[in-house]
Amino acid sequence: MAVAQQVFLRDAMRKLNLTRDMFSARVGVKRRALDSWLLPESSLDYRAMPEVVRRFVTEIVENEALLEKYADSAPRRGSLRDRIEINGKNQLLSVEQFTRDSVEELFSLADIMQPIARRQKVSRVLEGAVLGNLFFEASTRTRVSFGAAFCRLGGSVCDTTGFTFSSMAKGESIYDTSRVMGGYVDAMVIRHPEQGSVAEFAAATNIPVVNGGDGSGEHPSQALLDLYTILTEFSRLGKLLDGAHVAVVGDLKYGRTVHSLVKLLALYRGLKFTLASPRGLEMPADIIESMARQGNHVIEQTNDLNEGIKGADVIYATRVQKERLQAEDIQGYSPDFQITQALVDRYCDQDTIIMHPLPRDSRPLANDLSTDLNKDPRLAIFRQTDNGIPIRMAIFAVLMGVENLVQHSMRDVTWSPPSHIGPDDAIFHGMY
Ligand code: NCD
Repeated sequence: MAVAQQVFLRDAMRKLNLTRDMFSARVGVKRRALDSWLLPESSLDYRAMPEVVRRFVTEIVENEALLEKYADSAPRRGSLRDRIEINGKNQLLSVEQFTRDSVEELFSLADIMQPIARRQKVSRVLEGAVLGNLFFEASTRTRVSFGAAFCRLGGSVCDTTGFTFSSMAKGESIYDTSRVMGGYVDAMVIRHPEQGSVAEFAAATNIPVVNGGDGSGEHPSQALLDLYTILTEFSRLGKLLDGAHVAVVGDLKYGRTVHSLVKLLALYRGLKFTLASPRGLEMPADIIESMARQGNHVIEQTNDLNEGIKGADVIYATRVQKERLQAEDIQGYSPDFQITQALVDRYCDQDTIIMHPLPRDSRPLANDLSTDLNKDPRLAIFRQTDNGIPIRMAIFAVLMGVENLVQHSMRDVTWSPPSHIGPDDAIFHGMY
């Protein structure tokens, strides 16, 4: 007879020398799920642990090398802020600043931020701080969600959008702009059409800088919220990310969100990646090489959309970055590369999750993620955007050094927010 799940889990945590928080983070499930598995079976909140978790944990505790990898033998040194610093500064330029441990620590902080993001609590830990939101490229959600996240921690925001109304249109250099802004604000988020430009901004100032997207380079905060969404959805579905199948679909050549996301996902173990793109828009070779170096992943590339998504646990669709396409990219390019309800029903399971960084191009013939999936609960795109707030709050709290103050700073909101943010959210009530 199998060992009772409570005994099994306690034994595994003892062998790995991990607290409940650390154990749930390492296994990739929510702390709340772990707590429910550890309750006596007579409890109303007791839940059965999915078989896949028992298999995964058994594999770790029975294998010396894995036991060593997952065990907490070496206590973490320094604060998260120090561990993710870059060039000696508290800035976020690339997902390469993270390890699996540090990313999961950031997610625990994002969990703490959820009551603020859901308008149940307020906090003023960034009172007096000013964010400069400098967006030299089109944006709605990234600019507003960074601003809202900073405001919800008690800070204020100054914005500038586009080149036309900035002094860059008069020929001002990145160095001068950044140095000037550093004298006005306490942190900056920058989006710029050239790859590497945000690192240039960051080099010219000592205040926290966050890369809000540098050309087709990286978009680290988007990838963090995407990974957080995947882990949250998997926790609800009783799935683990280690060993999962992720299909990344669309413009993989210029899409910066997927460049960051696949590098983060590669921190996990034994994933199957299918990289499905139209011909000419394949994932750059250096990114595939860096994923392959990370772990024992299976990485497949295809120009066949149906093949790419077959049996996937996650479909991550992207928009063709028309603003970045060169003439040679269009040759042999097939615009018919659209995720639709019919396709998902044919090739995927009931618990596949469908994601997209948004915006999706909803114009006729754009062939972006189809709106016919809007009522399908597998479509996670708005849960994804909602997660942008707690993740960006966590990023600011870490970079500004206030992460330990947040929990005790929370007060109840004084106004009455609606119980669900969007009209269709009710079906997911209680899912987190
Ligand atoms: C993405 C971006 O700007 O890279 N949008 C976003 O920030 N969520 C994706 C895109 O524009 O296609």
